[in-house]
Amino acid sequence: MTCEQIREFQDLLKDYLSDSSVKKMQEYKAHGRVSVYAHSLNVAAMAYKINEKTGRKCDLKTLLIGALLHDFYLYDWHDARLFVNIFKMHGFTHPDIACQNAVDHFDIDENVQKVIRCHMWPLTFRRFPSSREAMIVCMADKLSALKETFTR
Ligand SMILES: [Fe+2]
Ligand SMILES: [Fe+2]
Repeated sequence: MTCEQIREFQDLLKDYLSDSSVKKMQEYKAHGRVSVYAHSLNVAAMAYKINEKTGRKCDLKTLLIGALLHDFYLYDWHDARLFVNIFKMHGFTHPDIACQNAVDHFDIDENVQKVIRCHMWPLTFRRFPSSREAMIVCMADKLSALKETFTR
């Protein structure tokens, strides 16, 4: 990213990054040794780059806030007690939990809610990412997770 792009990225996210509940994501692991906080920043940076390469057609606020908060579920998903049954498994349930936390903490709008709720598609097959921002975050999440898992 250029200096200007970094400034744009930081300006849009600064109020969220300084929030104590967002910082709490540093306490939980996402993939490998990467925290949920670092993973969420990786997804936001990847989403930003995809948007740059595809003509800057996204609403940047929706894209970046959705990316930063897509895994804002605030618990350790490795906790075995969460695996009660298949439809209560973390993979299926955490988008709604993250979305509710984001609404409670930041009163995010419908467009950002869609980005968060649809990011696990196709696992959550009824939640198709039907906006450009949701589709980019859905892709950026998978690419970042792969990268974090295999780059150690
Ligand atoms: Fe997720
Ligand atoms: Fe994620």
